[in-house]
Amino acid sequence: MIKYTSAGDSHGEALVGILENVPAHIAVDIKRINAMLSLRQRGYGRGKRMQIEKDKVRIISGVTEKFSDSGTGESLQPENLQPENLLLETSGAPIGMLIENRDYTLNKTKRFFTVVRPGHSDFAGTVKFAFENAAIPSERTSARTTAMDVAAGALLLSYLELFGIEVYFFAERIGSVRAEGALEKGKLTKEAFEYALKNDLLVPPSGDYAAMKAEVDRAISQRDSIGGSGVVVVKGVPPGVGHYGNFLDKLDGIIAHFVMSVPSVKSVEVGTLSDAFLQDGFTGSAFHDALFIENGKLTRRTNNAGGIEGGLSNGEDIVIRVGFKPIPTVLKGVPSVDLSDFSEKRSVYVRSDTCVVPAGTVVSAMRVSLALSTVLSEQFGGDSAADVKANFEGWLSRRRKFWQR
Ligand SMILES: Cc1cc2nc3c(=O)[nH]c(=O)nc-3n(C[C@H](O)[C@H](O)[C@H](O)COP(=O)(O)O)c2cc1C
Repeated sequence: MIKYTSAGDSHGEALVGILENVPAHIAVDIKRINAMLSLRQRGYGRGKRMQIEKDKVRIISGVTEKFSDSGTGESLQPENLQPENLLLETSGAPIGMLIENRDYTLNKTKRFFTVVRPGHSDFAGTVKFAFENAAIPSERTSARTTAMDVAAGALLLSYLELFGIEVYFFAERIGSVRAEGALEKGKLTKEAFEYALKNDLLVPPSGDYAAMKAEVDRAISQRDSIGGSGVVVVKGVPPGVGHYGNFLDKLDGIIAHFVMSVPSVKSVEVGTLSDAFLQDGFTGSAFHDALFIENGKLTRRTNNAGGIEGGLSNGEDIVIRVGFKPIPTVLKGVPSVDLSDFSEKRSVYVRSDTCVVPAGTVVSAMRVSLALSTVLSEQFGGDSAADVKANFEGWLSRRRKFWQR
């Protein structure tokens, strides 16, 4: 099964990541990984740190130059693996990745504070590890570390493509302004996704970019922060992916775990249940996605289930709605406590973002890529891309009769 782990502090020298058990001969598209990293960085409402960082992944192992489809690639020295235009592929060995923290070399200032920020890990982290300096927990809980998750998830997009799977995403809500209707069945096309990628808030065509940007501007002018929601849509997953043997194996649970743990995410929804709560007649007959047969193919005209039933994919788009709280570091401060003398003080401001909805949506999408890759690799196995494809296509040909005749 594909496994991912990472290490690295927000103000440390670098972030490191390891991907294990990725089959050999999967294309490694460094240009795409770096493009995803810059998408994570550039959302409107991010702070000064993102002007310092110019994230680029350095792959240090597990990758080789691609010479031919039969895989006669030879091992290359790490320094030769970096050019973005080189055709690279996985070698089957653990993939080691590195992202430099430019801030580490440019800013050597020591971070020390004892007034904890409500909403951050300062208080609970200080209790857990018993430090005087409340800045230490956020060295790891800070979302800086999610840059590596994005690199890993972006690398695995090529693995997902072996199955014909694509991951789309967009920002759905900022503050009180929501892009309505983007999730109506069939609306989130490739064109709509590409439209969202072109603006710095990831707003889809159905959204009002100016109104959403105004929400961020209002938060900036009020020296506050602002939350919202993003949506990840996975296209091309056939029915029957995942497991329900044990509750920990269920596809919705696995995706929720990978996404709920993104810093500042406080809700993960599969499908459109929270919209249905708001409507009259919230009944099973109205909510469940009825089945029809059209041109010999099993179809549904709605996707309220968000593509997962019983812990398994059901063949519809997998739709994950992710809710982000307003981030904890607030310029105008929040009533808090100084742990050094146990007095009441306003929380401190450390250099910070204002709105992380676009960046957090990118991170969530790449965590979904990681989650699905682990599940697919467990179900279909394979030492090389060709093995994976053969396993998957054989399975599909044996299963297709259940949805197409
Ligand atoms: C992309 C991204 C950037 C973030 N930037 C900040 C930030 O600049 N300041 C801040 O206080 N929180 C920021 N956060 C949120 C905190 O990291 C998060 O609230 C904190 O670690 C506590 O974790 P929790 O909110 O998941 O409970 C960011 C989150 C994301 C996803």
